[in-house]
Amino acid sequence: MHRSAREGTDTAARARRVVLVGVGAIAAVVAAVVATVGTSTNWFCTQPCHVVHADNTKTFVAGSHSRVSCVACHEPVNASPIVFVFKKIEVAPDLFTTIAGTFEMPLNPSSAVAIETPDEVCTQCHDLGTRQVTPSSGIFIDHDAHTKRGITCATCHNRAAHPEAGITYELPGNRKHEDWLSMSACFRCHALERPLPTPEFEAPGACEACHTEGFDLVPASHDAPDWYNRFGESGGHAAAYRAEASRTAEASAAAPAVEHPAGPVLRPAAAVNACYTCHTRGYCTDCHGLEMPHPPGFAKSHGAAGIASPATCARCHARSEAEAQGRGFCTACHHPQSTPGRAWRTQHDEVVAKSGATACFGCHEPPYCAACHVRGPQAAEALLR
Ligand code: HEC
Ligand code: HEC
Ligand code: HEC
Ligand code: HEC
Ligand code: HEC
Ligand code: HEC
Ligand code: HEC
Ligand code: HEC
Ligand code: HEC
Ligand code: HEC
Ligand code: HEC
Repeated sequence: MHRSAREGTDTAARARRVVLVGVGAIAAVVAAVVATVGTSTNWFCTQPCHVVHADNTKTFVAGSHSRVSCVACHEPVNASPIVFVFKKIEVAPDLFTTIAGTFEMPLNPSSAVAIETPDEVCTQCHDLGTRQVTPSSGIFIDHDAHTKRGITCATCHNRAAHPEAGITYELPGNRKHEDWLSMSACFRCHALERPLPTPEFEAPGACEACHTEGFDLVPASHDAPDWYNRFGESGGHAAAYRAEASRTAEASAAAPAVEHPAGPVLRPAAAVNACYTCHTRGYCTDCHGLEMPHPPGFAKSHGAAGIASPATCARCHARSEAEAQGRGFCTACHHPQSTPGRAWRTQHDEVVAKSGATACFGCHEPPYCAACHVRGPQAAEALLR
């Protein structure tokens, strides 16, 4: 009886343990489900993590996906519950930096998140096979040409859910991202000239490949009054080019190497020189007619080049149509007191009468004057050569 009483207590204790373990297991599963579901809500992503995601949430709310769940894009598509839980465990350490406020800013500086986003994330909801993409604002897109080469949606639509235009970031150290729907970003692969920036992708740069007929191809920058004038101020385009060249050199130097699943590493869009998305280098040099800027020492050695090919220099140095004929433009620098459009020969006497001839002898020896005044103009020409 003693024995059986003990056996009875043992059975009861075992039963209690089984129940306890069972309840514990159920509680753990419920907790895991609650935690997984709870940490998968937009509320969890934006509120407790508000500190780190505050800026990002602003962009999300402003975008066309504001009614879409964060996890639709930020968790693997159709993942099994196990994978889903492992994903949670993988990012759990982020909790510490979030609480301690030691997370690094900017988040995702070189858009690695976009590069890692596979197409299946987007094609859950978007079927480009059935959607009619109508060219808006004069831009064509051939989705198929890219998809069949493994170029993912987020290679272009990286900011689809987080558009940054008009948003001010507040987290210290945070900054905006490149928007790969820009023309410069298309020119990470597309190009007017060969060799291509990314030889693995042979893609055209001609305007009509992407723009509809009637699209205004000249950008607003070119309307600046000093952009280019045949006989006037043309420094505007030169200054814009210099700014562009130094900006892109800086961006190339800071280029983050991000592996792209479609294959090669694309250069950052910021490293693309915008002038050469619309112009070949030949377009610039054909108008200049010579290497720009002038080579070192040119201030001393230009006489011969100017005499050999005055029309080339006149493109930039002539101040009027009359000065562009022959070597009249030399006067623009050599005789700055001259009135443009009139031959210097017919006006130098006025300048000498007004200011004297001392300044003239900075460049001319007295025999130079004498050559005409005593011997006639042909002798002066001979002196110059
Ligand atoms: C339609 C898909 C989509 C949805 C929905 C979405 N995101 Fe994103 N998210 C992206 C893509 C794509 C990127 C990568 C952007 C890049 O690399 O330039 C990104 C980037 C981010 C980043 C990195 C920081 C940054 O600005 O690049 C964070 C953080 C983020 N998302 C959080 C969220 C949160 C929180 C939500 C829900 C409130 C959300 N996302 C909803 C697609 C989405
Ligand atoms: C959960 C569903 C869902 C997912 C996932 C999703 N989208 Fe969308 N997307 C929408 C809805 C809804 C709209 C708004 C209605 C429309 O234009 O179709 C939209 C609109 C768009 C638009 C047109 C409006 C705009 O902002 O230019 C683009 C482009 C777009 N999505 C790209 C993407 C890309 C790229 C991804 C993957 C990173 C993605 N979407 C993932 C549902 C989704
Ligand atoms: C090579 C760059 C590029 C890639 C890759 C790309 N798109 Fe686009 N997509 C564009 C451009 C540019 C437009 C805008 C066309 C316009 O304004 O007419 C666009 C338009 C869209 C639109 C809006 C269509 C409309 O009716 O206005 C949707 C939705 C879209 N893309 C989804 C996707 C999805 C999903 C993928 C991946 C399967 C994808 N895109 C891949 C460049 C791209
Ligand atoms: C990752 C490289 C890459 C990027 C970025 C890219 N493209 Fe492309 N694109 C290609 C390739 C490769 C082709 C195929 C060219 C061919 O078939 O000859 C192509 C073809 C095209 C075509 C068809 C041209 C034709 O005449 O057949 C259009 C239109 C186009 N792209 C538009 C865009 C636009 C707009 C963007 C930027 C929003 C862009 N692409 C960004 C690689 C790219
Ligand atoms: C690979 C596709 C592609 C090619 C090729 C292309 N563009 Fe674009 N272009 C775009 C896209 C995308 C936009 C809209 C996004 C933007 O404004 O950056 C655009 C915008 C523009 C704009 C308006 C924005 C601005 O800067 O003022 C002009 C002007 C323009 N393109 C001129 C040209 C000219 C000129 C050519 C030919 C030398 C050309 N494009 C070739 C894709 C292309
Ligand atoms: C978005 C396209 C685009 C970009 C970017 C662009 N240009 Fe142009 N540019 C044009 C077009 C189109 C013309 C007119 C060409 C023609 O008439 O044959 C032009 C003409 C010019 C001219 C001739 C004078 C004039 O205004 O007609 C100069 C100089 C010039 N561009 C310099 C530059 C420089 C420098 C840059 C870079 C800072 C630049 N362009 C960037 C499209 C562009
Ligand atoms: C229509 C003729 C024309 C075209 C096209 C042209 N330029 Fe010029 N460029 C000029 C003239 C004129 C000057 C002299 C500017 C001045 O007086 O300051 C100049 C000067 C310059 C200078 C200044 C050199 C210096 O040392 O100050 C640079 C740089 C330059 N151009 C770059 C470009 C680039 C890059 C392109 C092509 C994208 C281009 N230009 C296209 C006419 C042109
Ligand atoms: C943009 C201004 C400018 C133009 C245009 C110009 N020159 Fe000069 N030139 C100078 C300056 C400044 C010097 C003085 C250089 C020095 O000695 O530092 C100079 C010096 C010279 C010299 C003396 C060089 C020496 O041996 O020291 C000759 C010869 C000359 N120029 C010829 C010409 C001729 C010919 C033309 C027209 C085809 C011309 N220049 C157009 C600015 C110009
Ligand atoms: C594409 C426009 C362009 C053409 C063509 C051009 N120049 Fe210039 N030149 C300039 C500009 C702009 C400057 C001022 C550069 C600077 O200050 O950096 C300059 C400066 C000079 C200077 C130096 C003046 C000084 O103060 O140091 C001389 C000399 C000169 N040019 C002579 C010539 C001669 C000679 C030719 C023909 C062989 C010629 N240039 C062709 C644009 C041009
Ligand atoms: C900075 C140097 C410089 C100074 C200062 C200078 N000249 Fe000249 N001058 C030249 C050069 C170089 C030429 C040759 C230009 C050419 O080939 O047409 C020239 C040519 C001339 C010519 C011949 C014009 C022609 O039609 O053939 C006369 C006249 C002349 N200078 C007078 C003067 C007088 C007067 C002064 C003083 C007021 C003066 N120069 C100051 C450099 C200078
Ligand atoms: C290329 C030939 C030529 C050269 C070189 C030349 N001159 Fe003259 N000069 C003339 C002619 C022609 C006139 C008459 C101008 C007129 O009446 O319009 C003249 C007139 C003058 C006059 C007005 C006085 C008068 O006799 O009527 C002065 C002063 C003068 N030159 C000074 C100079 C000086 C100083 C130099 C050298 C720095 C110089 N010239 C070089 C051709 C030249």
